[in-house]
Amino acid sequence: MTALKTITVSLAVLGLVACGSPETGNPANTTENSEASSIPERVIQKDDKFTYANYDKVQMTHLDLNLDVDFDRKVLDGMATIDFKKIDKNAKELVLDTKDLTIESVQIHEGGKWKDATYALAEDDEIMGQALTILLLDKADKVRIDYETSPEAEGLQWLTPEQTAGKKHPYLFSQAQAINARTMTPIQDTPAIRITYTATLRTPPELLALMSANQDPNTPRDGEYSFEMPQPIPPYLLAIAAGDIQFKAINDHIGVYAEQYILDASAEEFSETPQMEVENERLYGPYRWGRYDMIVLPPSFPYGGMENPRLSFLTPTLVAGDKSLTNVVAHELAHSWSGNLVTNSSWRDAWLNEGFTSYVENRVMEALYGPERAIMEQALDMEGLKRGLAEAKRPELTHLKMPEDMKHPDEAFTSVSYIKGANFLFFLEDRFGREHFDPFLKKYFDENAFKAVTTEDFIKYLHDELHSKFPDKLTRAELDAWVYGPGLPDTARTPKSNAFEKVSEIQSGWLAGDMAAKDIDTSNWSTHEWLHFINTLPDGISKGKLAEMDEAFNLTGTQNAETAFAWYMQAIKGDYQVVSNDLREFLMTVGRGKFIYRLYGALKAHGQGEWANSVYAKAKAGYHPIAQRRIDDILKD
Ligand code: BES
Ligand code: ZN
Repeated sequence: MTALKTITVSLAVLGLVACGSPETGNPANTTENSEASSIPERVIQKDDKFTYANYDKVQMTHLDLNLDVDFDRKVLDGMATIDFKKIDKNAKELVLDTKDLTIESVQIHEGGKWKDATYALAEDDEIMGQALTILLLDKADKVRIDYETSPEAEGLQWLTPEQTAGKKHPYLFSQAQAINARTMTPIQDTPAIRITYTATLRTPPELLALMSANQDPNTPRDGEYSFEMPQPIPPYLLAIAAGDIQFKAINDHIGVYAEQYILDASAEEFSETPQMEVENERLYGPYRWGRYDMIVLPPSFPYGGMENPRLSFLTPTLVAGDKSLTNVVAHELAHSWSGNLVTNSSWRDAWLNEGFTSYVENRVMEALYGPERAIMEQALDMEGLKRGLAEAKRPELTHLKMPEDMKHPDEAFTSVSYIKGANFLFFLEDRFGREHFDPFLKKYFDENAFKAVTTEDFIKYLHDELHSKFPDKLTRAELDAWVYGPGLPDTARTPKSNAFEKVSEIQSGWLAGDMAAKDIDTSNWSTHEWLHFINTLPDGISKGKLAEMDEAFNLTGTQNAETAFAWYMQAIKGDYQVVSNDLREFLMTVGRGKFIYRLYGALKAHGQGEWANSVYAKAKAGYHPIAQRRIDDILKD
């Protein structure tokens, strides 16, 4: 094997070493050639600045992973074999993304033989990682890379047995979105491309390994697991979980995986997933991924859910006992259309994934539970959006199309992409009417299936398929205000929930001193009504009022994580320190970013930075690397 140093030098001399920042300009506009591949053809315009990959010239088409899941060393160790095709027949190199990977060797396949490849690993960038540039040979069709991950890989969380509920076995789970697939394997880590994949994982024999791919729930537990994902997916949907995981079926093609302690409760909580699938299919066409399973992860999972294909990853905080938080399941399932089937071409277009999905989620919730619940969820979201807009660091971050100069794709995943995005679609729905808008969206998902789409592609599609037929329903200025303008356009729908209005009336009465908290009849309140009541408490509410509420309603220590979070936010703002022990317990056991980022931020903003730091010092080791990075940032001076 040739020494790496030498290669780096020779490539640098050739001017081929990718350097610190990725190229952005020079759209290639070349159409891919027609080699045998199931992946749809499209004009490639390199508009993702968060990848080093030269995907406008050469594209991966398939990934095969053969990995040991080594819990002792906290690494994945083995081989990644990559099939690729040239888009530009003069392409001389294949550029892959890597981050915190140790590359042991690279070989290239040409004329039926594997040969040592000439390659170079560029300098490390804190966000982007390192470009791996491999010189291509004329007729080469594959490369294979012997590598291992780092115990610090941001996309992998390794839990010790003590950190699991069962306490006996270790646990591993991945989180590739947005740009952490590159911490799991060398890959072209951009949502603009698609790959199929196969994998073999070796774990200790007591454990079960799962991936975002086909899996037989009855596979023998022998420590060797094989997977195949025949539908092409964007790389951020690559996912792994391994642990002492059990399975429970919900129907013949939907089920839930979890540690034993929460398995039955999860199957019960998510028992309406089959109806969600039925409604989703009725509205937007067939589910195209085979099985739909869910895995309830340990509480350090930093998201509510992650739409890994065939296997949504979920936080255990959804298992509230009353199905009140299942909109997250509707959301992750909805990504099977918006996001997984039709994918944002770059993270600047994240609203095409998350806004569409939040919209579809709400339509499915409405179909299943009726308009009142759907409107309550819209109203709660709208409260969140207004707060998000007020807190936005700069106006460009409130456009649906995110600015070119984002520092990290995470900046695109705010209430703007989700809720402003969804509200843009509510607006279009209202203008064109469901009778036209529903078939339009169904057709959009079908005609763009397994493709990447930009905001501009969507606007063109909207124009061609709908707007041109009803030109007087919408002006270009109205549309631009939503997509390229700041804040919430005044054409936005105002969700009006009767249930919430009643709650607000009661709240006003109580605040005015007309009645005592203990005399409020809350027996029929849903979690949503509680959230509305708590979230809309006025700024500057007195400690006495908070204490009165707490005594009447037992809010401190509540088991519903959403309610607890809403309450602790108010307690922090109102300096109601009675919650301290329960809040500490919450921060020590829940790693869901949506809650803990804002709780730490509020503690810091309200003079409790020191206490926040002391809790974080103890909680940090249990948090996911993604959450650690974010909270380090929030708490830094
Ligand atoms: N795809 C997201 C999670 C995500 C976002 C991962 C950004 C990495 C980067 C997922 O579909 C999601 O949106 N989850 C939400 C739930 C939803 C109901 C708003 C969450 O985690 O809270
Ligand atoms: Zn989502």
